[in-house]
Amino acid sequence: MNAQRVLTTVLGIALVFAVVVVGNLAAQDHDPKPLTKEQKQMMKNKAMKNMDRFMSSKQAMMKLPEHLKETQEEYIEYGEKLFNSKDALSTNGQACTSCHPGGGTTGGEAETPMKSELTGKPYKLPIPTLVGAAATFPKYKVPNDAVITVGDMANNCVMMFMAAQPLDHKSKEFKALSAYVTTLSNDDKVSVGEVPEMMKKMMGKKN
Ligand code: HEC
Repeated sequence: MNAQRVLTTVLGIALVFAVVVVGNLAAQDHDPKPLTKEQKQMMKNKAMKNMDRFMSSKQAMMKLPEHLKETQEEYIEYGEKLFNSKDALSTNGQACTSCHPGGGTTGGEAETPMKSELTGKPYKLPIPTLVGAAATFPKYKVPNDAVITVGDMANNCVMMFMAAQPLDHKSKEFKALSAYVTTLSNDDKVSVGEVPEMMKKMMGKKN
């Protein structure tokens, strides 16, 4: 009886130890690195200068809300243009809106260029609405086997359905497209990880 209690305690301690150690290892997967010389220069010459310019001049401060609004709108408008363009992001004549018209749903299916090993037919995926979609990101996505942002999801579509290279995270296009898609969730409740309604229905049907 006593030996059993000792064993349980030892196992308990070992478990706590393992969780702590493994947890720490996972946290250490990312190793922060100091800025490069160029980055330091960039911060000093651009980022801090921009801040300084706005903070030190009353006039610039007064104009800031306008400037913010204009910049914000410029990105959203550019994102909308990209969303509706048949050639800005794709090499096969597809626009985002070809499958996601007006951000809404076609209620249809998108055929991927890849064939299923199980059926030998092209993979077909139901198309979810993009209204409210951004409010569910970051979320887990099967093809990536990772939790991704809405911008990364747009890149999934660019690669899977538009036969083009993904957008660089640092590009204006990536940011503008993410901004536009996110406006389709304005006033929606943020619900990170939520599965689209239509997917829920499908999953329900199969059970
Ligand atoms: C050929 C059709 C097609 C095109 C073109 C397309 N998509 Fe998609 N999109 C889909 C399908 C199918 C899904 C569902 C895939 C999934 O959930 O894994 C989807 C999912 C999404 C989602 C996630 C929705 C959610 O609730 O999880 C976003 C965001 C998205 N697309 C944005 C875009 C953007 C932005 C573009 C243009 C760059 C684009 N899509 C182009 C078919 C398309």
